[in-house]
Amino acid sequence: MFNNTVIVITGGSSGLGKALAQRFIKKGATLALIARDKKKLTIVREELSPLCTAGQRVEIFSGNVADYTAIKETLNIIANTIGEPDILLNCAGIVREGYFEKLPHSTFREQMDINYFGTLNCTKAVLPYFKKKGRGRIVNIASLGGKIGSFGCTAYCASKFAVVGLTEVLRMELKPFHITIHLVCPGEFESPMVEELNTYRTPENRVVNKTVPVLPLNVVADEVLKGIEKEHYLIIPGFIARFLEMISRWFPATSRLIIDYQIRRVYQGPT
Ligand SMILES: NC(=O)c1ccc[n+]([C@@H]2O[C@H](COP(=O)([O-])OP(=O)(O)OC[C@H]3O[C@@H](n4cnc5c(N)ncnc54)[C@H](OP(=O)(O)O)[C@@H]3O)[C@@H](O)[C@H]2O)c1
Repeated sequence: MFNNTVIVITGGSSGLGKALAQRFIKKGATLALIARDKKKLTIVREELSPLCTAGQRVEIFSGNVADYTAIKETLNIIANTIGEPDILLNCAGIVREGYFEKLPHSTFREQMDINYFGTLNCTKAVLPYFKKKGRGRIVNIASLGGKIGSFGCTAYCASKFAVVGLTEVLRMELKPFHITIHLVCPGEFESPMVEELNTYRTPENRVVNKTVPVLPLNVVADEVLKGIEKEHYLIIPGFIARFLEMISRWFPATSRLIIDYQIRRVYQGPT
């Protein structure tokens, strides 16, 4: 399925993007990794290149997914130097947690710019290549926070709900062009993003978050890969995350009661 394909991975220098890159290399793909920090990208290329067999490559591209013009140019370079992409994995993302009143407008804009417009920009930029080939695959890494609200995550959840909405419609619009879409909604998993979040998150978020166990990165990466291979549209790694998403859809009032009860017990609020 991935042998001899060109896979573009945004956020490929860290966390889930990097873990998926390792897996796709083992499946025979050539990779184009996009992230902002060139140093981190270079280290990942050094780690992954020895896993390549004849004909495979790992190439790195420093770029900001929020910049559409730059991303279009990067995709153009990838197509001309490595080959036209077969798969796009939109994994680049950031999170900033905090009480709504305390978060500045710039935080909301930054998360929309990277999480939502970053996904949109890369999707728009890759489409001409997929349409020319008559096929393609886009994997959007949203979040369980794009399905269920999480305390302190007004900015993050809004951006991920937007990714979910975008992905839902893309699935319908791109199906006639034989472009397959996957929506990935993980709960929390171990990664540098979560390590940083743990240094400052609100007590309310800490408590609500305990409802879903933080999954090991490898478990999430394996389940995402399996979901793609099985052609699943919605991929939610972990049984408890899947169960919670189902409960919130089937029994929304009950799930709101449970969340409110959890928050009331530890509530501190903005000071
Ligand atoms: N970790 C979790 O618990 C969790 C749960 C649900 C969903 N997710 C989602 O999963 C994805 C990966 O998360 P992770 O935990 O693996 O995060 P991570 O380890 O912090 O990796 C994030 C990656 O995105 C890149 N990135 C960030 N902003 C970028 C930008 N503007 N342009 C290009 N690249 C950018 C980062 O590199 P640079 O900083 O160098 O650009 C890095 O490679 C994210 O979309 C996140 O929202 C994570």
